[in-house]
Amino acid sequence: MTDFASRLITWQKIHGRHDLPWQKTTDPYAIWVSEIMLQQTQVSAVVAYYSKFMMRFPTISTLAIATQDEVLQHWSGLGYYSRARNLHHAAQTIMHEHNGEFPQDFVAIQTLPGIGRSTAAAIASFAFNQVQTILDGNVKRVLTRYFAIAGWPGTLKIEKQLWTLAESLLPKTEMVAYTQGLMDLGATLCTRSKPKCGSCPLNNNCEAYKQNLVSTLPTPKPRKAIPEKQITMLILMHGNEVLLEKRPPTGVWGGLWSFPETEATDNFAAISHDKFGISVQIDQPLPILSHAFTHFKLHILPQPLKVIKRLTQAREPSQVWLSLEDAIGAAIPTPVRRILQTLMQR
Ligand code: ADE
Ligand code: SF4
Repeated sequence: MTDFASRLITWQKIHGRHDLPWQKTTDPYAIWVSEIMLQQTQVSAVVAYYSKFMMRFPTISTLAIATQDEVLQHWSGLGYYSRARNLHHAAQTIMHEHNGEFPQDFVAIQTLPGIGRSTAAAIASFAFNQVQTILDGNVKRVLTRYFAIAGWPGTLKIEKQLWTLAESLLPKTEMVAYTQGLMDLGATLCTRSKPKCGSCPLNNNCEAYKQNLVSTLPTPKPRKAIPEKQITMLILMHGNEVLLEKRPPTGVWGGLWSFPETEATDNFAAISHDKFGISVQIDQPLPILSHAFTHFKLHILPQPLKVIKRLTQAREPSQVWLSLEDAIGAAIPTPVRRILQTLMQR
C-alpha cells in the first residue's frame, strides 16, 4: 500500500468523522442521496434534509413513483434544484433499466443523470468497496499541495494529471476508510486557509509543506480581464472654489460628492454652458488617475475649467460650490480627494 494511503487510513480511523448519518449504511441508494446533497452543500446543512428525505423516500422505487413536485418540495431550501430533478430521473432510469437495483458497474453508475466520475467513485467505494478514486474540490486541494502541482486545477491538463496521481495512490483494500479519509482530511486539516499541517498525517511527504508552498497552492483561478472605462471629470474652478455634484444613491460612489463626469470626447465648454450656466476657459488637463474597483478599472482625466462668467448660483440642490478646504472635508471618493490635493498644491 502507498505510504499516503496507509497514513490516511490510520488517521481516518482515529481522527476522522464516523457518525454522519450516511456512514451507518452500505445501501447504495442511501449513499447516493447523501453524495448528491453534499455536492454543493455543507455537511451541517445536509443532515436535517437528509433524514427527512430518507424517511419520505426510503427506497429507489418510492422516489421513482413520487411526483417531481414532491421531490422538489423535500429539496426546498437546499438549492441547486437540478440535483433533485436528476436524482428523481435517475431513480426512474434505475427502475426501467436496472430492475430497480442500483447498478454496481462503474461506467453504468456514471451514466445516471447527475452522477459524475467523482460522485460515482464515492458511491462505488462506500457501497461496494470498489477501488475507485474520488476527486472533488477538497481532494484537488490536498493533491495539488501534496505533489506541489502549480497551475489552476480547473484546467483540463491539471485535472487529468490529478486524476492520474489520485489513482496512483489508491490502496487495494479499506476503500471506505480511505475515501472518507480523503474527504475528512480536506474538510478538517488541509483546509483552504490556515491548514493544520502540524497535525497532518501526510506532512512527512507533502511537497508543499516541505517547500513552504502551502499558502500559494492550489493556484487560484486566473482572474478574467476586467473591463476598463475612461471618463473625464470637469473641475469647474471659480477662484478657490470648485463645483461638486452629489452622485445618485446607487452604483459606485452612490451618494458621494464628486466632480461632474463626462465622456472624454464631449465639448467641455458647451456642457459647462448648457448644464451649469457657466462660460469657461479650458485649462491644461491634470495627469490621468486610475482607480480599481472589483469589477472594472476607471481611468479619470481631470479637466480644470476656469470660470469666466458664472451666470447663476449652483442651481440644483445636488450641486454645490465649495472651497478646496471644505471640499476635501466632504464625503468624496479617493480619486476626487487626490485631485483636490493636487489643486491645493498649485
Ligand atoms: N462530502 C461529500 N461526501 C461526503 C461524505 N460522504 N462525508 C462527508 N462529507 C462529504
Ligand atoms: Fe495539506 Fe499541510 Fe497535510 Fe500537506 S501537510 S497535505 S498542505 S495539511
